[in-house]
Amino acid sequence: MRAAVVLSQFTEHAPHGGVVPEIAARAHLAHLPRLVGAALAEAGAGFADIGAVAATAGPGLIGGLIVGSSYAKGVALARGVPFLAVNHLEAHALTVRLPGLRAEGAAFPYLLLLVSGGHTLLAAVEGVGRYVRLGSTLDDAAGEAFDKAAKLLGLGWPGGPALERLAAAGDARRHRLPRPLLGRKGCDFSFSGLKTALALAVGRCGEGGPTAAESADLAAGFQAAVAAVMADRAAHAMALFAERHPGMDAPGARLLVAAGGVAANATVRDALAQTAARRGFALFAPPPALCTDNAVMVAWAGIERLREGRFDPLDFAPRPRWPLETLETAG
Ligand code: KG4
Ligand code: ZN
Repeated sequence: MRAAVVLSQFTEHAPHGGVVPEIAARAHLAHLPRLVGAALAEAGAGFADIGAVAATAGPGLIGGLIVGSSYAKGVALARGVPFLAVNHLEAHALTVRLPGLRAEGAAFPYLLLLVSGGHTLLAAVEGVGRYVRLGSTLDDAAGEAFDKAAKLLGLGWPGGPALERLAAAGDARRHRLPRPLLGRKGCDFSFSGLKTALALAVGRCGEGGPTAAESADLAAGFQAAVAAVMADRAAHAMALFAERHPGMDAPGARLLVAAGGVAANATVRDALAQTAARRGFALFAPPPALCTDNAVMVAWAGIERLREGRFDPLDFAPRPRWPLETLETAG
């Protein structure tokens, strides 16, 4: 990797308590040319050195997708190089294969738990473009659940990191919150009941709302419930994965990769690591800066596709909805 530049729009969206699509699209337009210039400068390169251009083309908010992929197509057209329309989920899925990230590398197949603000899924990653979904959320995404819980506890947006900091001072055993779908068959998730239980617990704290200590206990209880559910769902997925891919018995051969913003959470990581170890899986989660959204993962997914000769036409239309498991046949 020669350069990485991330612009977070937290300050633009924070006053609204979440991402405002129109603000996001305008901010993309305002900042993108300067960011690309900064990345090229950091790499000591110019437009003439670009061999291909990858951009996120879905799934997500259409405004940002249009701005980003139009810019990328413009550069590809002007330079006469390939354009790669990258699926954002695939970028999270392939990050672990970024050279130098994991000493042992990450050969296919491996198991992926993707837990971000917009997505929650477990999938077998069997090759570039080859994903088999094992489970996903029936309601809120994991990061969304953290953000809503944080809001209930009076924390700012984005809520995940703030809730994790608050939980560090709390006692997770004080409030036993429900663990939706724990022990149930399959690998699906559900977070809305947990959110409701937290709202009720906050309501029980009386007129003035929870004290600082009560908030910390509630945050810890919420985080513990999410971590327990994730470990349980991942355990079911590990069993399915082992059935699908028998014979990977060498020590360390089976790999569980956790990706997306929520994979930055230390309690979640610990719970996953313990469950994985019990089932003979190694757990790998990219460093937090590569778990949350970044352009490096999109560039890497582009390189993986480029190597397989899977470019995209310049009239590729961005896709607000673009399920991971449709990739091999799409494009
Ligand atoms: O992957 P990501 O950066 O963006 C999306 O693709 O959505 O994930 C952002 C989500 C937010 O909901 C944020 O609250 C959550 O990840 N998040 C965390 C932590 N860091 C980010 N949740 C729990 N603990 C964290 N440390
Ligand atoms: Zn993401």
